[in-house]
Amino acid sequence: MSTNQSLKPLTLHVNSEGNLQIGGCDLVALAQKYNTPLYVLDEHTIRSICHDYKEAFKSYPKVNMMYASKALCTEAVSAILASEGFGFDVVSAGEIYTVYKAGADMSKVLFNGNNKSFEELNLAIELGVGRVSVDNFFELSLLNEIAKSHNKVVDILLRITPGIECHTHEYIQTGHLDSKFGFDLTQIDEAVELILEQYKNLKLHGLHAHIGSQIFETTIYADEIEILVKELARLDEKFALKLDEINVGGGLGVKYTESDVPPSTYDIAEKIITSLNKNIEKYGIEPPALFLEPGRSIISTAGVTLYTLGSSKQVPHGKKYHAVDGGMADNARPSMYQAEYSAQIANKPEAEIAQAVTIAGRFCESGDILIKNIQLPEIEEGDILCVYNTGAYNYSMASNYNRVQKPAMVLVNNAQDDLIIKRETLDDIVAHDIIPQRLQKND
Ligand code: LLP
Repeated sequence: MSTNQSLKPLTLHVNSEGNLQIGGCDLVALAQKYNTPLYVLDEHTIRSICHDYKEAFKSYPKVNMMYASKALCTEAVSAILASEGFGFDVVSAGEIYTVYKAGADMSKVLFNGNNKSFEELNLAIELGVGRVSVDNFFELSLLNEIAKSHNKVVDILLRITPGIECHTHEYIQTGHLDSKFGFDLTQIDEAVELILEQYKNLKLHGLHAHIGSQIFETTIYADEIEILVKELARLDEKFALKLDEINVGGGLGVKYTESDVPPSTYDIAEKIITSLNKNIEKYGIEPPALFLEPGRSIISTAGVTLYTLGSSKQVPHGKKYHAVDGGMADNARPSMYQAEYSAQIANKPEAEIAQAVTIAGRFCESGDILIKNIQLPEIEEGDILCVYNTGAYNYSMASNYNRVQKPAMVLVNNAQDDLIIKRETLDDIVAHDIIPQRLQKND
């Protein structure tokens, strides 16, 4: 059992008031104190999954754990992960800057992405990012030029497309052959030749692949490892090039609903390490350093979102809708990927189940439905809905659709609550607006 297999934060229970509590903090009291919608993050659950990853992989001598910041990137979250010894997979100047401001060891940061800009690559070099995973020929040449202008040699990996399909939503598959990411296997030799012969400001250390996200199968990791190790051996034979790093990406799934059964960190570690050892022997290479980039599985379970229930509608002979004060702008996943979530009423978690209802969001779009057909007790206006497993890809994909302010985020631990993201204000909403002089009223 590892933390990603839990639907709810590990510290969640019903307190003596009869309310849900996480990290020793009453969720109803948090909703009153900070208002809703509110993201709540349980520090203990984050540290627990970090421990699971470290324990699971401890038998392999060289492992670099890097948290995929895209799942949830804030300074406080980055500080927690850094304190656990994790590095970071970052994909933008914004993520690089956030982990830098949080005090991360920049040598443990890897910069990914299929269209990194000149400014972003420049910032990565200036701030001492440890590895750049180069995605394509254009980037190889651009990065070499920038590195030359800094008089530096930049340490790189090559992102490759291993041609593996995983059974997850089409939009979050990345390793299949016609993916937009990475070098095709047939393009690797040309990239290596360019690095060895022309791009003297790049030093290649290894290969990187990422198959997809919310993955429940473990065998595809073994397939991915075989492809990576075989390529290392082939490149050594062809170019006498000793590459000693492989990055297998992220992707481990989490449990959004009772019917989801994701593997544990121990299950994937077993597959990855067994496959590594087998293929190291089969292809006769030195054991490479292993990089992992988990995102969702690190942060999803730790997060819940609190909403206040408001209006309702009974469609004659049809659905019963209850609306919350948030929705697709704070959690795009149901409307974007038909993602399913589980929830309870925080102020009466033990009340008898009364009905199947549909939880609608407050945004002006029919598709803004958070949860379809969920079994809940009788609902009254003002009840607090606690939606589970919202730590990953909720805040990080949030928008200001309908000009609604983004919610606040609170970190809870040992009965202490700390605000880690302030709620946006109406002034924040208009902060970047400019009315041209000629349109301004001059009265
Ligand atoms: N490494 C690379 C190169 C990636 O592209 C990703 C995710 C990860 C690591 C982390 O994967 P994870 O462990 O989180 O599965 N917005 C989508 C997920 C997109 C994932 C993109 N890449 C969602 O909400 O389901």
